[in-house]
Amino acid sequence: MSLAAGFRSTWDTLGAIGRDPVTGGYTRLVWSDTERTLREWFTAEARARALDVHEDRAGNLWAWWGDPTAGDAVVTGSHLDAVPAGGAFDGPLGVVSGLLAVDELRARAVAPSRPLALVAFSDEEGGRYGIACAGSRLLTGQLDPARALALTDDDGRTQAEAVRASGRDPDHLGADPDVLARIGVFVELHVEQGRGLVELDAPVGVATAIRAHGRWRFDLDGRPDHAGTTRLEDRQDPMLAQARLVLATRDAAARHGALATVGKVRVHPGAVNAIPGRVQVWVDARADEEVDVRAVIGELERTAGTTGREESGPPRGQREAARRDRRATSAGGRGGGGPVRALATGAGHDAGVLATAGVPTAMLFVRNPTGISHAPDEHAEEADCLTGVAALTDVLAELVAS
Ligand code: GLV
Ligand code: MN
Ligand code: MN
Repeated sequence: MSLAAGFRSTWDTLGAIGRDPVTGGYTRLVWSDTERTLREWFTAEARARALDVHEDRAGNLWAWWGDPTAGDAVVTGSHLDAVPAGGAFDGPLGVVSGLLAVDELRARAVAPSRPLALVAFSDEEGGRYGIACAGSRLLTGQLDPARALALTDDDGRTQAEAVRASGRDPDHLGADPDVLARIGVFVELHVEQGRGLVELDAPVGVATAIRAHGRWRFDLDGRPDHAGTTRLEDRQDPMLAQARLVLATRDAAARHGALATVGKVRVHPGAVNAIPGRVQVWVDARADEEVDVRAVIGELERTAGTTGREESGPPRGQREAARRDRRATSAGGRGGGGPVRALATGAGHDAGVLATAGVPTAMLFVRNPTGISHAPDEHAEEADCLTGVAALTDVLAELVAS
């Protein structure tokens, strides 16, 4: 089968899972039935390639070509979960490209001198429990399993309950130093989530850095009361504080050269005819430097008169993703045969978490014509995806030969 035909058939089997037929958006939350189907899909695709599949203690899925215990493995992959109503490419493109790269390596009769693994990280988006890159943070010991298990979803269900309902033992969830120690290098291919490659007129590029980012929750309290009988001057309405906080988020971001977003609020009790007693506001803040992210949050804490609860802060030294593997940079960046195109990203990735844990990492990006991401219009042309697979294959071939 040609690379194009292989890519299309693999991509198409994945494309139906978790897709809303009306909006075209994907909802693929951790431990859901949809996500179980994604795990089954990954397992079947890996086994069809004679790879050995296993799940680590953090819920990440691994597919091995060669002896995992030999260590110094070359690892590629990404994640299969999505933000609620997200796009098709963020995460899955890296997993599908990894599967196709295995096919290509075999077609080239490459005999790896190091083990090669494909990983599907669990819960990269944190769409259900709020922690970004939860699977890689758990794996590397950067997320306390007790804290992770106690987190609740929008239905008030703890992660421990959901893990148990998925057939796993919550007490087993945690760091997995043995698995972490096997990773020699990690290369993640990802759809670009901006228009950097469009502007560079290149189908594929390599990452120079992942910008610092974090998520905070502000709980704004007031006094619940009747909408029709409470005089304006008697109200303690946290919705007003919420409005001020949203506006302050925009201003603080502009002042500190950052990006900051309020994408989620929860109003309690959420009745049309009641003054709310509490409004919870989630702020996502990102900047080149962690100090600017924290400056934005500091300003918001002063505006809100309360401390923001850090749900997932910037992994320490996340810009160390720039400490990428040199060979991955030179081979992968030539995707399409041209010069190496390098660009930084404001999106978060498991590669950044692994870099923080001392793993040499690299990222390849595939052009996204509109730059839209975390939304149904996220896209990459098939020709660019194939260039990405070829670039990834080149990188992996060089790495497994060394
Ligand atoms: C994940 O894609 C993020 O950047 O939030
Ligand atoms: Mn994402
Ligand atoms: Mn992603």
